[in-house]
Amino acid sequence: MIPYKHEPFTDFSIDKNRNDYLEGLKTVEAYLGQDYPLIIGGERVTTDDKIVSFNPANKEEIIGRVSKSNRDLAEKAMQSADEAFKTWKKVKPEVRADVLFRAAAIIRRRKHEFSALLTKEAGKPWNEADADTAEAIDFLEYYGRQMLEMKDGRPMESRPGEYNRYDYIPLGVGVVISPWNFAFAIMAGTTVAAMVAGNTVLLKPASTTPVVAYKFIEVLEEAGMPKGVVNYIPGPGSEVGDYLVDHPNTRFISFTGSKEVGLRIAERSSKVNEGQIWMKRLIAEMGGKNTMVIDSDGDLELAAQSIVKSAFGFSGQKCSAGSRAVIVEDAYDQVLERVIELTKELTIGDPVDQNNYMGPVIDGNSYKKIMDYIEIGKGEGRLVAGGDGDDSKGFFVNPTVFADLDPKARIMQEEIFGPVVGLMKAKDFKEAIDIANNTEYGLTGGVITNNREHLEYAREEFHVGNLYFNRGCTGAIVGYQSFGGFNMSGTDSKAGGPDYIALHMQAKTTSEMF
Ligand code: NAD
Ligand code: ALA
Repeated sequence: MIPYKHEPFTDFSIDKNRNDYLEGLKTVEAYLGQDYPLIIGGERVTTDDKIVSFNPANKEEIIGRVSKSNRDLAEKAMQSADEAFKTWKKVKPEVRADVLFRAAAIIRRRKHEFSALLTKEAGKPWNEADADTAEAIDFLEYYGRQMLEMKDGRPMESRPGEYNRYDYIPLGVGVVISPWNFAFAIMAGTTVAAMVAGNTVLLKPASTTPVVAYKFIEVLEEAGMPKGVVNYIPGPGSEVGDYLVDHPNTRFISFTGSKEVGLRIAERSSKVNEGQIWMKRLIAEMGGKNTMVIDSDGDLELAAQSIVKSAFGFSGQKCSAGSRAVIVEDAYDQVLERVIELTKELTIGDPVDQNNYMGPVIDGNSYKKIMDYIEIGKGEGRLVAGGDGDDSKGFFVNPTVFADLDPKARIMQEEIFGPVVGLMKAKDFKEAIDIANNTEYGLTGGVITNNREHLEYAREEFHVGNLYFNRGCTGAIVGYQSFGGFNMSGTDSKAGGPDYIALHMQAKTTSEMF
């Protein structure tokens, strides 16, 4: 087996790569506006009621009309997943892993088509879409290998006349609920981690990005996934989500999304319903309010670049986005001035145009929420860049910077999930770290300093699941920087890390006497 290596990002300065991406765009454009059914037990099920997925850069452009699941269909999917579990759990781990490796190969061949679909359906600029597709491939390659490593369990001690074993067995039917912001990578990663471990899955993708999820299930089928192993049931979270979270046959839930929905799932899934014979396991990866801490003896150009990239990459719609910067006072004016300059250079527009650094935000609700936060920010700090938007054709919000904020300001505490960053001063490095820790979240953080003692102080005291030194706080790579947060950012499951598959399994001890 070739050792795992992450999928390289595409260099779009090379003509061939640019042309390949444009070809991908043509392929996607040829199938825009089609209807997609649910997939239950491998069967296509069409409903009258549809989720309409549209292009956030152009509200008129429909990406697809996707059949909408309801409780009855969710029940049918549960029965199908229950049935499929009886055989899938007995399929050898090597065979299950091969489905993932083959799926990775298929996606690699259609890489730019998938990225172009993300550009259209999620509003991702080329490089962000390319990174999302690469991460999906990485999850398939990494989790496949991880399953192979775990297939014989773990070594245990045995005494004379005794043979002890520690084996991993699957859990059962898992409900996977995924977000739109990594519409491919997180949807695919959470699904295949569950399935390669021998579980069967009910996948409820986000309602804004269901088409890419459908295309992914087709890839799994092509790669040899048996019927019923992953069932595709998009539908309203409040109806389908609640029904499946409450279902007594649900063995585990893998959720990625907002804190509000995550806590609702945590509460509901802890209740034992009639006929239920287990405690449901919950993986919940939730929001963040992530901070870049800038020290006065750091590289201040790197600091400004890192703040801007972390805040505005994919319009700030990454759970990892750096939406606050706390700057030691001696460096504050210089960093602020440079952040304003860099922000004003950013280009915004339809992401099909490679020259646009930023595209739209995901939909009208998101646009309104972000614009409301910008109004709140105007009352809390000094607006120094952006502050406006345009939702006439798509949902575009200009990159926005607020300065001179109080650490307890709402825009310094609440997840905005848009292109808005708040800057503030700290009297020294220690105070900056205290401020960085002052939210309910603990997902990512970055520190820019050349002071070794300060780095070591941050390593111990900056309480986040993913801490980065002398770089921005986004862009974790599967198998390199496993990803997950503390406190209200979730259960710290560390996607793309060595313990992830084990969360989808249970360990069984057998002890034989000779
Ligand atoms: P969201 O919570 O609105 O939705 C996530 C998923 O939950 C969607 O599929 C949605 O339909 C579903 N859902 C909604 N109500 C439900 C219910 N009652 N029961 C079950 N499912 C329900 O989040 P979003 O807007 O899709 O994504 C953005 C959020 O996700 C941000 O808060 C971001 O920080 C977070 N996120 C976290 C990570 C991470 O790894 N920590 C990664 C990506 C996104
Ligand atoms: N992998 C994504 C990032 O770190 C979540 O930005």
